[in-house]
Amino acid sequence: MSPIVQVRGLRYAYEDGTEALKGIDFELQPGETVALLGANGSGKTTFALHLNGLLRATSGTIAIDGLELRESNLKEIRRRVGLVFQDSDNQLFMPTVLEDVAFAPLAAGINSTAALAKAWLALEQVGMAHKAGKAPWHLSAGEKKRVAIAGILAEEPKILVLDEPTTFLDPPGQRGLAELLSSLPQAKILITHDVPFAARLAEVAVFFQEGRIAAKDTIPTIVRQFDW
Ligand SMILES: Nc1ncnc2c1ncn2[C@@H]1O[C@H](COP(=O)(O)OP(=O)(O)O)[C@@H](O)[C@H]1O
Ligand SMILES: [Mg+2]
Repeated sequence: MSPIVQVRGLRYAYEDGTEALKGIDFELQPGETVALLGANGSGKTTFALHLNGLLRATSGTIAIDGLELRESNLKEIRRRVGLVFQDSDNQLFMPTVLEDVAFAPLAAGINSTAALAKAWLALEQVGMAHKAGKAPWHLSAGEKKRVAIAGILAEEPKILVLDEPTTFLDPPGQRGLAELLSSLPQAKILITHDVPFAARLAEVAVFFQEGRIAAKDTIPTIVRQFDW
């Protein structure tokens, strides 16, 4: 099986000179879920922002489902890789939940009937169809996260990248999110500090340390090996 995400020698320095990624090699197989663990500042978010081209590597290569990430195919890459931000408020901006979820398919140029159909389907997948007419900012943190995920699912991505999805969720919200994510067939990259949450969804984790992947192993082994 060829990997659905293949990253080789990825390096990235921010404009102020911070070397956030110092040579990352990473692979994800279709349908697989891998957890990204590691201390604050170790480069996890910077890595995630590269996977759909929001940041462009200083050097190294990224291929998504065999398609190399380049300026000329950014649009196609972004459709394949759905990035769910840590703070849903950065993702939700339309007056109603339905419009928010329909936004990306509409922006992609499909007709409004088809876009709305995709949005309803995605809202049903995340259990939020009954909130379609609500303003996103009136939802709870857990509901916002579901709507943000629906907005990504409406684009029918092959890979989901979730950056600290449990941050603002209470324990029931976290359990519900784990159930939702395990019901989704996409390959997933799950950035989290929440080890039990990671263990519910992934068998394998990579451990980020100062811009490098220090280890890839089962979650219990990683947790035993690194005290962070
Ligand atoms: N916009 C930025 N400008 C400069 N440095 C940044 C920026 N964002 C993150 N960094 C730095 O890059 C490194 C990696 O950060 P980040 O990817 O956010 O780590 P993590 O998500 O693992 O907490 C840190 O040293 C952080 O301070
Ligand atoms: Mg981060």
